[in-house]
Amino acid sequence: MSTETHKLRLAECMSRLGTESAFDVLVRARELEAEGKEVIHLEIGEPDFPTAANIVEAAKQALDNGWTHYGPPAGFPELRQAVAEDVGRRRGISVDPSEVVITPGAKPIMFYTILALVEPGDEVLYPDPGFPIYASMINFVGATPVPYSMVEDRGFDIDVNEIVGKLSSRTRLMIVNSPNNPTGGVISRPQMENLAGALKDRDVMVLADEIYSRLIYTGEHVSLAAFPQLRDRIIILDGFSKTYAMTGWRLGYGVMRPDLAQQIAQLMTNSNSCTASFTQMAGVEALRGDQTSVAAMLEEFRGRRAVIVDGLNRIPGFHCRKPLGAFYAFPNITETGKPSHELADALLNQAGVACLSGTAFGEQGEGYLRFSFANSIQNIQKALDRIEGWIKKNR
Ligand SMILES: Cc1ncc(COP(=O)(O)O)c(C=O)c1O
Repeated sequence: MSTETHKLRLAECMSRLGTESAFDVLVRARELEAEGKEVIHLEIGEPDFPTAANIVEAAKQALDNGWTHYGPPAGFPELRQAVAEDVGRRRGISVDPSEVVITPGAKPIMFYTILALVEPGDEVLYPDPGFPIYASMINFVGATPVPYSMVEDRGFDIDVNEIVGKLSSRTRLMIVNSPNNPTGGVISRPQMENLAGALKDRDVMVLADEIYSRLIYTGEHVSLAAFPQLRDRIIILDGFSKTYAMTGWRLGYGVMRPDLAQQIAQLMTNSNSCTASFTQMAGVEALRGDQTSVAAMLEEFRGRRAVIVDGLNRIPGFHCRKPLGAFYAFPNITETGKPSHELADALLNQAGVACLSGTAFGEQGEGYLRFSFANSIQNIQKALDRIEGWIKKNR
């Protein structure tokens, strides 16, 4: 097919769409591997564990039992019920299945929430450093992204005073992500309480991205949805990708007031029709079945966290805080004197370690790198040796 005869005219909004550079780095790493180079993958944010056998078995049975057809756009009642119970129990709130929308992965909840609530010219607060799709989607719909920081000196907690200073009459939505990707920061209860207080009398909706809420090493997960005064303004985003090592299954959900849930389901009807049926049945088993694999994975991550944080802190010019949640180490590398992007590129191309530049998560990410510790201790150790060797040679 020739692309030369017809000039491609894209819609203007496409020029405002961003990307998630973890996937670009993965492609580059695979190219290097195809050339025969060995790369240690610390770039991609997915558990390296297999999905638990009981969940896989449930999916096989669902296929055998004919769960191979379209289903309701908002998800099957069985799964919506199971999600409502699980989300409610873990956050100490009552959730009705009519508040739950099942989607292929949790990412669509981000996309749909922003499409459904945000108009051109509105302002949306989002964390910087933060998941790159937030700013991408805010820009895509013609709204103004307003970043707020995750402060390293506070262990990557938020500063509610800073946030209050950024709220305006045009603020329509605020995105909160705890535990945070890429910093591993967890918003503390006092800060969450302050935030809830600050938002109480404002006409602002909140997208609470809680995809890492079961991956916490120290402290607790505090959900904004547990503050009664905010309850009908919170959209919880969560799912199965990280908790149950199910990234490739594409299964996630949003929990929100029923009138908004109906609108989000309408967006599902217009885009995906529904989430894969047999996958949803496996989701019921994931939530209701044995949870040992979730706890075992967390303990394994805890061990790796110690190894990677200690190792990074031994590298000249690196300072790394212990992440409180998720599976990312986010060392400060300013004392190496190298810009983050340059250092990430050099580590991939010259040392064979794939990681992400902090700037992949916003301007405030300059001076940091993100390492996912979803890899074996042996590989993490090897990566640390390579980085140390490279830094010592190139200081
Ligand atoms: C902060 C955050 N939110 C949402 C997602 C998306 O999750 P899913 O793979 O279920 O779409 C990710 C995935 O990396 C993430 O890091």
